[in-house]
Amino acid sequence: MKNSSRRGFMGKAFGAVAGVGAVGALYAMKKTWDPLPSVKAAGFTTLDMSAYKENELVVEKWRGKPIFVLKQSQEMLDTENKNISQITGKTTAGMDKKRLIKIGDAHYLVCIGLCTHLGCIPGYRPETKDFLCACHGGMYDDTAMVKKSPPPRGLDIPPFKIDGMKLVLGEEGPEYKKMKETGITL
Ligand code: FES
Repeated sequence: MKNSSRRGFMGKAFGAVAGVGAVGALYAMKKTWDPLPSVKAAGFTTLDMSAYKENELVVEKWRGKPIFVLKQSQEMLDTENKNISQITGKTTAGMDKKRLIKIGDAHYLVCIGLCTHLGCIPGYRPETKDFLCACHGGMYDDTAMVKKSPPPRGLDIPPFKIDGMKLVLGEEGPEYKKMKETGITL
């Protein structure tokens, strides 16, 4: 082998080794950037919706935030229907509340339990079926719509996906996407 062709061969061989090394290094870097499987799984919270009782607030947790779950009683649904009809003047019998999630035959309010004013955690009052935020006196009804300012909007609804009688928080199912599109939640 002539000197020049030997140099060419050595150069190609070195290049090939360097290439393999670079791919290996990239792979190692990608492995470092990818979150661990447990971290990915931690982004989701699955709730068994058959476990809740009517007009009894349960506070769950999702991504470090308090999540309010309030199963509606028939009385609560009827009151809402009556309110809507007073506002629109139309018959709304049987109309589902738009902010509620229907699973099986039941309706649930599922929302992030942080006041949209300055982030305090409102308390639920089962007797009056509303939420009171003690920080500045803001109030929300049993669908977490604002009843009394200063909160600028109702409590936000977390991304959710209905899976039979379960609710997966952190996934965007069609019902959640519709709520976002129609401006029911941010
Ligand atoms: S933080 Fe809730 S009313 Fe101000």
